[in-house]
Amino acid sequence: MAREIVIAPSILSADFAKLGAEVEAIDRDGGDWVHLDVMDGHFVPNITFGPNVVAALRPHSKKVFDTHLMIAPCDPYLEAFAKAGSDIITVHAEAGPHLDRSLQHIRSLGKKAGVSLTPSTPESAIEYVLDKLDLVLVMTVNPGFGGQTFIPAQLDKIRAIRKMIGERPIHLEVDGGVNVNTAALVVEAGADALVAGSAVFKDGDYAENIAAIREAAKSGVAA
Ligand code: DX5
Ligand code: ZN
Repeated sequence: MAREIVIAPSILSADFAKLGAEVEAIDRDGGDWVHLDVMDGHFVPNITFGPNVVAALRPHSKKVFDTHLMIAPCDPYLEAFAKAGSDIITVHAEAGPHLDRSLQHIRSLGKKAGVSLTPSTPESAIEYVLDKLDLVLVMTVNPGFGGQTFIPAQLDKIRAIRKMIGERPIHLEVDGGVNVNTAALVVEAGADALVAGSAVFKDGDYAENIAAIREAAKSGVAA
């Protein structure tokens, strides 16, 4: 069955001096979701922005705000990211001991709950929380930076998770090194949402870059 593919440009690679305009640009230029990478300098070796920035960006687009929390602990900040206007809040399975509780908390805030797995975390980490999930995010680079090289070993994990999801209405998102060369591979393995940072923002032509990734992704969709 053909699957709708979501393209989620990551503003990690945007010009931080004009983030509002950048969000408007990816919205106008064909991005489906806005991917917001939150980093704390503790869970990952980089720092980006917090809930105040997400709230400031909210009026700049009506599209889905896909918030990827690379922070530990995450629980004390879930409410702030919900109030800031996130639609999906994704936490890392490695970020705390009580993933089930974090997912329940996100849904209790009226938001869609996602879990992300770093490259070394096996798919079994989500086996017992599947019914509390709206999205699984497979990292195809080690989280922390844009512009890294795609790790092909993650394709087996994507395939395994697509099987685990079965008929459940759960998005399978892939993040890291997604570009015109890797998009078809991840979609063929079962992904339906593609995050792309540097491949969208690498030059000024966001519309062309988003369209090219979407076109490449289509060749991975099973007929
Ligand atoms: C990395 C972030 C990604 C990042 C991807 O930790 O989670 O969302 O922006 O960047 P690219 O697409 O350049 O690999
Ligand atoms: Zn991300």
